This record gives sequence, structure tokens and C-alpha cells, in this order.
Amino acid sequence: MTETTQSAVDAGQDANAVYTLGSSQGESARLQRQADELAADSHTLLDRVGLRPGQSAIDLGCGPRGILDLLAERVSPGGCVVGLDADPAHTAMAAGFVRDRGLDGIQVLTADARHTGLPSGSFDLVFSRTLLINIPEPAEVVAEMTRLARPGGHVAAMEYDMEHALCYPPHPAFDRICESFTAAFRRNGADPEIGRKVSEMFRQAGLADVGTEARAPLYPPGHTRRTIRADLVRSMRPRVLELGVASEAELDELDAAVRTHLADPRTITISGLLFLTWGRKPGLLPVRRRARSAAGGYICRVDVTIRGYEPRDAAGLADVFFRSVRQVALSAYTAEQVRAWAPEPRTAEWAHGEAIDGRMVLVAADEDDRPVAYIDLQPNGHIDRLFCAPEAAGQGIASRLYDAVEAAARQQGIRSLFTEASELARRVFERKGFAVVQRQDLVIRGVAIHNYRMAKALD
Ligand SMILES: C[S@@+](CC[C@H](N)C(=O)[O-])C[C@H]1O[C@@H](n2cnc3c(N)ncnc32)[C@H](O)[C@@H]1O
Repeated sequence: MTETTQSAVDAGQDANAVYTLGSSQGESARLQRQADELAADSHTLLDRVGLRPGQSAIDLGCGPRGILDLLAERVSPGGCVVGLDADPAHTAMAAGFVRDRGLDGIQVLTADARHTGLPSGSFDLVFSRTLLINIPEPAEVVAEMTRLARPGGHVAAMEYDMEHALCYPPHPAFDRICESFTAAFRRNGADPEIGRKVSEMFRQAGLADVGTEARAPLYPPGHTRRTIRADLVRSMRPRVLELGVASEAELDELDAAVRTHLADPRTITISGLLFLTWGRKPGLLPVRRRARSAAGGYICRVDVTIRGYEPRDAAGLADVFFRSVRQVALSAYTAEQVRAWAPEPRTAEWAHGEAIDGRMVLVAADEDDRPVAYIDLQPNGHIDRLFCAPEAAGQGIASRLYDAVEAAARQQGIRSLFTEASELARRVFERKGFAVVQRQDLVIRGVAIHNYRMAKALD
């Protein structure tokens, strides 16, 4: 099967273990709603930093959706967006969201925001929303955000400060819910007062031109954000019970009482202050050159040389294959499908064995001569592989590789080309004049998956 790609650094278990709100279907559903509810405030923050078409941005701790669509809207055309989260269930949902919306130029990675493993200076904007509030050492994430921003680029965060919750007329159930929230929330070292602290953390991390503003939204009855405290206590219920702050029965009663009280339109409530904070990474603004990487590499702008395979490329090709399937293909296939397709990393021996079996292999190598994409051509005109690493996806590299292989095929007198293209690779081949011969429904390791048999005549 042929395909295109996406990257990641495996997130350690600990990243999820320390995440305060935990992982549950209810919490994921809450985060899906949050994306809509905080869209207007998120736009305001994006206006402060001025993201433009052609630029690159990353949403750290993007959850099932985050602001991936808002970022894509701003950097299009020609830009790129990365969504990163430590929870594989969330990255699978985010990849599904990208797929369902048909958004281009977005990669979704599973990694720990505290040490992403991505190259320094890769992004024009490094963004996070309600991530810092949830982890014990937020300064580590801010340091990583600063590292990832290019000199002259921006770092921005949206974080709550939940010390002051307001409810009028007062209600004892509201106060108890707030108490339970604070006790459970602080348990892992998370800081419910982070909002006010972010601007100083930005300065400490070396950012310049730091700005911040706070909002105190009054959500009307029916708005899901009006009951956020009760919703968060629901997400953290196991922890509240474990701490002995309240019993299951009491939590049920409190939950019902608070919701009833907040359903009354006369009740005034503010669940916290929302801080929008931004800063700029000092440094000279680099001259922007399309498809040219700065030292350390722009994740979204890789300059490549296309050349023939050499045995030293073997491990790199195996790595490109695995990351492509496990990460990039996620935007068109489910997590279960990509796992079945590439259950474990391939070896250098595997890649080398294929490369010397009579086929021609062309490699796109970055400035450090590291393979970031490759294509092959068998003597009968079959293109078996077309893979692109996440950091190189969406930059026309697959297209350039294909053009080189087609030129080679013509020189060799090959009259027609054919391939089995993945859902993503299909688009590349269609642009190159291939037609779908038939959709192929396969079962790999017990999992149903499909690709497309495609062909092109070279007359
Ligand atoms: C409250 S949610 C916010 C989601 C999204 N930013 C939004 O505003 O809709 C926090 C997200 O951070 C992720 N997260 C927690 N700790 C993380 C870490 N160390 N690295 C990366 N993601 C992390 C969680 O999995 C979760 O998806």
C-alpha cells in the first residue's frame, strides 16, 4: 500500500498520569464543546499575535480538537499546523476531526508537551489552551513552548484563574462543589490560579513584549460553560472520592442542586477569570524562504535533495515508513487501522532488502542528508512505496519524488505505472494523472482497511 505521512515522539506514560482532569468519554465530550465555546476568545488571542497565511503554528495539548481549525483557517493557504497531545485517544479524535472537516496541512502528534522532541525554532506561533492549568510543572511547558517558537515568533496561552468563583444568590451546594474542585484539582500539583501567573512565566522564559488580559464571562442558562465547575468535578469524581472530600451520594446531590440553581436565569455566576497571554521570542526575524530550513530545521519547511538510495539510508527509510503510517495516515484512517498496518517499527534490514530487490528507490534527504520521504519504482511500472515523514508532509515533496520517478520510468521505456494508494496518497496520484481502477477492501491483522488500485499510461 502506498501512502503519505505525519510524525511523533512517543509520549511517556507519566504525561497522562499527571494530567489532572484524567481521560474519560465525558471529559473528551466536554473538550469537544469547549472548542466551540472558547472559539471567540481564541480568535481574540490569535488577533493579538497576528498569525498569517503561509505561517506555521502548533497547538500543544490540543485535546480532541483544540483550535486546529482556527489555526488552519489563518495560515491557509500554504501554511501548516501541528496538533500535539499526550493522550492517544485525544490525538485519534483530533485526527478524526481534521479528516471529517477535510482540513489540509494539519499533522497530529502524540507526544509530551514538556519535551516534544520537535526541532527548535519550528513555529511562528506556539499555542496552548487550558494545558498549563492541568500540569504540575507548567514552567517546563512554557520553556518548551519558547524553544519551539522561531526567533521573532510568538507564544500564546489561554488559561483560567479559578480562585474566585462567584455565585449570587449564594448557594451552599455551589460552595461545596468549588471546595471539592480545588481539593481534587490541586492533588497532582496542578495550579487553579495559573491564569494570573502566566505573563510572569513568559517573561522568566525569556519572552519579550508580553501582554495579558483577563475576561470574566457571564454565561447564560443553557450555555454549557455556565456549569463548568460541576462539569469538572464530574470529570474528577474518582479523585474527589479517593480524597474523601465528599461521598458519591453527596456528589450526586450537590451536582443536581448546583445545576438547578444555575438553571435559574436570575442566578449570576462567574466560574473563573480567563487570561489571554502572549509574548514574542526575541531575535532577528529571519528572511522567510519557502521550502528552506533554518539551522535546527523548520518542521514545516524542509529543504530536500532528491537522490538515489544508498545503504546508509536504510534505517531512515524504515523510520519514515513507520512514522508515516502511524502518524500521517491517521488523518485518513482510524488508530486501529494504522496500528494493524504498522504494528511495530520496521528494521533497517527490511528497508535495505526492499531497496536492493531490483526496484529503484529515490530518497528525499534534508539538509543533514537524513531521509524524510521516499518513493520506489519496480521494473514492471509498479510504485510500491511513497512515504513522507510528518515534518516533510504538505510541502510538495511527495509530488517532486513522483515527478522524478515518472521521468525515470519514461527513460526506462516503461509504458504505464500502477500503484495501490492509501486514502492520502490517492490525492497525490490523482493530481499526477492517475485514475482509480478499483477500491480494494482488505483485512490486515484482522482489521478492515482499504486502498485504491490506480494506474496511469505514459504515452
Ligand atoms: C483541558 S484539556 C484542553 C484541550 C484543548 N487545548 C482545548 O482547549 O480544547 C488539556 C489537554 O492537555 C493534554 N495534556 C495533559 N498533559 C499533557 C502533556 N504533558 N503533554 C501533552 N498534552 C497533555 C490532555 O490530554 C488534554 O487533552
